[in-house]
Amino acid sequence: MNALSPLLLALLLIAAAALAVAAALEAYPTIASVGDCSVSDGGEELKPIRREVYDGGRIFDISHRLTSDMPSWESEDGLGQFLRLAASMKNGSLANGSEMKLPVHTGTHVDAPGHVFDHYFDAGFDVDTLDLAVLNGPALLVDVPRDKNLTAEVMESLHIPKGVRRVLFRTLNTDRRLMYKKAFDTSYVGFMRDGAKWLVENTDIRLVGRIRPSLVF
Ligand SMILES: *[C@@H]1O[C@H](CO)[C@@H](O)[C@H](O)[C@H]1NC(C)=O
Ligand SMILES: *[C@@H]1O[C@H](CO)[C@@H](O)[C@H](O)[C@H]1NC(C)=O
Ligand SMILES: *[C@@H]1O[C@H](CO)[C@@H](O)[C@H](O)[C@H]1NC(C)=O
Repeated sequence: MNALSPLLLALLLIAAAALAVAAALEAYPTIASVGDCSVSDGGEELKPIRREVYDGGRIFDISHRLTSDMPSWESEDGLGQFLRLAASMKNGSLANGSEMKLPVHTGTHVDAPGHVFDHYFDAGFDVDTLDLAVLNGPALLVDVPRDKNLTAEVMESLHIPKGVRRVLFRTLNTDRRLMYKKAFDTSYVGFMRDGAKWLVENTDIRLVGRIRPSLVF
């Protein structure tokens, strides 16, 4: 490891699950079927409401809906069945109860420090050790060049102002809609080590969200 503090790098690798984002409304590519659902007025038909934008843009729900067709790390077949109804009211149970079984690295998630640093894993640094004050708050949405990985050179070229603590990088992965492709695509745009190091040493950023097939946004 170089001079970069492992913990800081781990924090940089964190992708936000639900952030308050001060950004344009079109920040997040909504799934058509999940789009704008409004409450049914007469109660004649119950329609699920899946809201993504709250208070005119104070909060964006950027988490992807879990589906069996969503990509899973190095899998050709996607996530597969991960949800089952273990107890059903139709079968006389008091309540419906579902069970989920899936890798914690699925869909929109935060990585714990122990995910990539074994000594943190051994010392018990799970997601519960992450700082909620870092995970929540205004974030800057940054469009990055579509023909490069997230290197130090790219980071420098973005001129992210001092004082910005959270950024979300919109990359080629979004344009390619990798989160909607079942087969895992290894050619995703990634956050390179020198890019992370540059951010730690030259900015106030504590949280980075980025997009890749098994991950965020
Ligand atoms: C309970 O589960 C049944 C399937 O057995 C489903 O049709 C029904 O909508 C569920 N009810 C609620 C309240 O989720
Ligand atoms: C309900 O009961 C039927 C008959 O025992 C069974 O085939 C079915 O899987 C059950 N469904 C759930 C959701 O428990
Ligand atoms: C990013 O790096 C990966 C792995 O080195 C490579 O496959 C991919 O083509 C790169 N993407 C871009 C846009 O340069």
